[in-house]
Amino acid sequence: MRLESSTRTPVLRTINLTKELPLGAETVRILRGISLEIYKGERVGIIGPSGSGKTTLLGLMGGLDKPTSGKLEIDGIDIARLSESRLTELRNEKIGFVFQFFNLVPTLTALENVMLPIEFARKPKFNPRRRAAELLDLLGLKDRMHHRPNQLSGGQQQRVAIARALANNPPLLLADEPTGNLDTEAGKIVLQALMDVQREIGTTVVVVTHDARIANQMERVLTLLDGQLVTQAEAYV
Ligand SMILES: Nc1ncnc2c1ncn2[C@@H]1O[C@H](COP(=O)(O)OP(=O)(O)OP(=O)(O)O)[C@@H](O)[C@H]1O
Ligand SMILES: [Mg+2]
Repeated sequence: MRLESSTRTPVLRTINLTKELPLGAETVRILRGISLEIYKGERVGIIGPSGSGKTTLLGLMGGLDKPTSGKLEIDGIDIARLSESRLTELRNEKIGFVFQFFNLVPTLTALENVMLPIEFARKPKFNPRRRAAELLDLLGLKDRMHHRPNQLSGGQQQRVAIARALANNPPLLLADEPTGNLDTEAGKIVLQALMDVQREIGTTVVVVTHDARIANQMERVLTLLDGQLVTQAEAYV
C-alpha cells in the first residue's frame, strides 16, 4: 500500500517553478509555476504540444538549467543552494539522462561509454568495467559491447545510452523523447528495455514523449500546455 505522500520524501519536488527568457525587448514565459512531486520508483510521463516547455522542464529537473524563480529539490536537497561543483557531483550521482539523439562519445566503444560516468564519480560505487558489462547484458547488448556507436543501430545506441544513464544507479532517470529518433520497431525494443530495467532496478523514471505507447506504460501522465500543468491524473494501469 502507498504511504501518504506527506510521510515520504519525494525523489523530486518542484514548487512554483518558473522559467523566463529574454527575446529581444520582450520576456518569454516558458514555464509558469510548475509544482509537482515525484516519488521513488514511479514512472511518470510528460506530454504536451511542441513548444509547451517539456524539454525546458526536464532540463530544470536535471539541474542542467536554472529556474527564474521557484524551488527544486532532488532527494530533499535544494539545488539552488549548491555550488557548481556540488551540482555536477549531484547530477553524476543522482540523475541519469537519456536524450533523443543518444549523445554517445563516438570514439569510445559501447562498454567504454557506459564506464565513463562511473569513472567520473567522486566515490565510484561500482567497478566500472563489471558494472558496464552487466548493464549492457541486461539491455540485450552482450555481443555489442566492443562496437563503437557508428557500428550500432539507432535502437542499440539508445540502449547503450540507457545503460550509461543507469551506470551509477541514480535514483532518477530523465528521458527526453527516447524513441523520437527511432523507427517503430527499434522504438518498441527501446521502450521494452527501458521498462525492463526500470522494473529490475527500481529507478524512478520521468519520460517526455509524443509516443502514446510510452505514455501508456506510465503510472502517471502530466500534461503541459503553454508552460503550465493542466492535469495530473493517475492513469489506469
Ligand atoms: N533559449 C531559448 N530562448 C528563447 N526561447 C526559448 C529558448 N529555448 C526554448 N525556448 C522557447 O520555449 C518554449 C518551450 O520550449 P521547449 O523546448 O521546452 O518545448 P518542448 O515542449 O520540449 O517542445 P518539443 O515537443 O518541440 O520538443 C518554446 O516556445 C521555445 O521556443
Ligand atoms: Mg522538447
